[in-house]
Amino acid sequence: MTTISGSRILITGAASGFGKLMALQMAQKGGQLILWDINKEGLDAVKKEIETQGNKVVTMICNLRNREEINKCANEILETGPVDILVNNAGIVSGQSFLDLTPDQIESTFEINTLAHFWTVQAFLPEMIKQNKGHVVTIASSAGLVGTSKLVDYCSSKFAAVGFDEALRAELRGMKSKVRTSVICPFVASTGMFSGVKKRFFLLPVLKPEKVVRKTIKVIEKNRRRLLIPKFVYASYICRLLPVWFFDWIGDTLGVNKTMEGFVGRN
Ligand SMILES: NC(=O)c1ccc[n+]([C@@H]2O[C@H](COP(=O)([O-])OP(=O)(O)OC[C@H]3O[C@@H](n4cnc5c(N)ncnc54)[C@H](OP(=O)(O)O)[C@@H]3O)[C@@H](O)[C@H]2O)c1
Repeated sequence: MTTISGSRILITGAASGFGKLMALQMAQKGGQLILWDINKEGLDAVKKEIETQGNKVVTMICNLRNREEINKCANEILETGPVDILVNNAGIVSGQSFLDLTPDQIESTFEINTLAHFWTVQAFLPEMIKQNKGHVVTIASSAGLVGTSKLVDYCSSKFAAVGFDEALRAELRGMKSKVRTSVICPFVASTGMFSGVKKRFFLLPVLKPEKVVRKTIKVIEKNRRRLLIPKFVYASYICRLLPVWFFDWIGDTLGVNKTMEGFVGRN
């Protein structure tokens, strides 16, 4: 079991969406929150809300595109003590066709959605290993399990995030460490990140962020290794056993590759 109450919890991308909701719910459970984001206004608002609940919170502006900045922020935190639960949540999506992607969009997607996980975990894991306790949470996506049209950069970065969690888990297991990892793979949720995207298939509805966050916290508390939400996303594993043409046909027929039609995003 991972206990939220009394744990020092770092959440990246905590100024809005899943990160903000997670911060609020974890603070209510007695967690000591450290919140990173680039959005100062959003961070200030979350801080105010948590403090109104009577809980303490530390907020820091940290641009996850920048490795030096991540290390600087991490060192500042480590001077005050180890982090017990690290939630790599921040993410971006460009939602463009592959050939319309700019080099900056591709680079920023990988820097934030994937590489930042390497830098934060390299910073905080040594202390977790030393204490033989801790939890690394990777907020990936169902797009990290199934490649989807108009999400080539996003899917690749999330496939990497899923692989990151699995390989890290194997390494920790090999060390007989009690540090845990969880990977979270939600389908589209109405946080604003995928604004404009509509339901294409009844088993793949646009999710309520509150539900995703509630289930994520439960998974962390129970030390479960993986959350796919909704449950239908588990079908992707079975479909992988089929011939590739059949796998592709199912995706097209269910409208998976039309998911991004109507996408406007957060802007
Ligand atoms: N929403 C979904 O449908 C969905 C589905 C599956 C997985 N996910 C994943 O869940 C995670 C959270 O998504 P969300 O929907 O909550 O997104 P969100 O509402 O857009 O929140 C992401 C937060 O990350 C911040 N951020 C962006 N670039 C950053 C940077 N360079 N450094 C630090 N912070 C940065 C954003 O700040 P700004 O607002 O200033 O950009 C924002 O506050 C992401 O990893 C996403 O890929 C989301």
